[in-house]
Amino acid sequence: MKTRYVQVGIGGRSYMFSDAIVHKFPAYGELVAICDINPGRMMVRNRRFAEGDPVFPDYPKVPPVMTYAADEFDLMLRKEKPDTVIVTTMDSWHDYYVVRALEAGCDVICEKPLTIDAHRLQDIIDAVNRTGKRLRVTFNCRYSPVRSRVKELIREGIIGDILSVDFCWNLNVRHGADYFRRWHRHKGNSGGLLVHKATHHFDLANWWLEAVPVEVFCKGHRRFYTPEQAERYGLTNRKERCLECPEKEKCAFHLDLSGNPGLRELYLEQEGYDGYYRDRCVFSPDMDIEDSMNAVVTYDSGAVMSYALNAFTPWEGYSISFNGNKGRLEHNCVESIYINGDGQVPGELLRKGTSIVVHPHFGEQYSVPVPEAKGGHGGGDEPLLADLFDPSAPEDPLKRAAGLGDGACSILIGIAANESMRTGVPVRISDLVTEVPVPSWRK
Ligand SMILES: NC(=O)c1ccc[n+]([C@@H]2O[C@H](COP(=O)([O-])OP(=O)(O)OC[C@H]3O[C@@H](n4cnc5c(N)ncnc54)[C@H](O)[C@@H]3O)[C@@H](O)[C@H]2O)c1
Repeated sequence: MKTRYVQVGIGGRSYMFSDAIVHKFPAYGELVAICDINPGRMMVRNRRFAEGDPVFPDYPKVPPVMTYAADEFDLMLRKEKPDTVIVTTMDSWHDYYVVRALEAGCDVICEKPLTIDAHRLQDIIDAVNRTGKRLRVTFNCRYSPVRSRVKELIREGIIGDILSVDFCWNLNVRHGADYFRRWHRHKGNSGGLLVHKATHHFDLANWWLEAVPVEVFCKGHRRFYTPEQAERYGLTNRKERCLECPEKEKCAFHLDLSGNPGLRELYLEQEGYDGYYRDRCVFSPDMDIEDSMNAVVTYDSGAVMSYALNAFTPWEGYSISFNGNKGRLEHNCVESIYINGDGQVPGELLRKGTSIVVHPHFGEQYSVPVPEAKGGHGGGDEPLLADLFDPSAPEDPLKRAAGLGDGACSILIGIAANESMRTGVPVRISDLVTEVPVPSWRK
């Protein structure tokens, strides 16, 4: 029998999941309904089903699905009787829908970050424990072939036991800036970049190390996306959104929502329903997230990680070095430039700049071939979808399917980092929730 899916949150990211069910794995599942606070975005989704998708002209036309307003979510569960609920809303609403879906007897697939603070996470932990239903968190980055290769090398013991990690992630002035235009600019919506974005990075680190975080110390600030920076650029007459800004010719950060068909259809033309502007000025004082963050994370394995995240760099990607008792593994990665929902492949790895180099103690350094990777998020999106929606997919030796423990351990680092920035002292992970759930790779 086919798995019945419903999906809540029908914005930019949602398409990957609904498309996968409808167009890539129709033999195994069906999307029976969608739900959102914005009826316009649901209409766009159904129009693409019924009239064909201009981005993917090979997709056949399919019948539209039932739509439900956000306050009809429970009604949708009662009427449509889904097996699994897919949660792709704004981050601060994940907990609400995850808990209600679990309580209704459904399994849940939730986009990262699982949620944004400790209180909401506790509610999710309690609901999973109470109901025994399955919760998956979609850590697509794990599935990227190059990151899987790094995992294999570490597991093979090529550098021995890992004692320390240097991890530096750069978000550039295109993609990084975009977080300061959208709902992400408020911690109440996203948890800030240490939760919203770094959940990917902390999950990778936890999974690579196969270790659980113990304590976090962090400092951070926002000094680039500020009114002062706009003045340094000579943007003296800026407005609070790009659409009506007289400085658009001069501003390198100007976003033309009307000029991109995807952004126009999904956001500009749907503003009338919810008043959500996707092109807020990146130099506005009306935001409370950091653009530069430095953290130190200790692990139960004894490893210590120094982590830096900057959201205003000239190029996008990361470098990570693992220092082991037999040598050092250095992995660098450069990603393509995009902004969410603009129709381009998001976060594709660029071969030039992506590398794995092993430095054995007292030996010659050597490069490890980087596997081929196509598609979004370092080639991770497609294998993730197969793992989620194809029941015949073979068992995964790398245990990339992430659940409650994986989702929790990654955001707990960001939540602790937020608390540490606020209080100025290190924060113990075990003080944030009653019991830290066990990640899948430790079961
Ligand atoms: N894994 C990845 O690589 C990746 C990439 C992009 C986004 N995401 C995640 O996907 C989720 C959605 O992000 P997006 O980029 O699509 O954002 P978006 O703004 O394009 O879409 C969010 C959608 O949620 C809806 N929504 C907001 N509040 C709601 C509520 N209370 N009830 C129902 N619907 C509500 C909005 O109307 C909108 O349609 C986020 O959690 C984000 O972190 C993950």
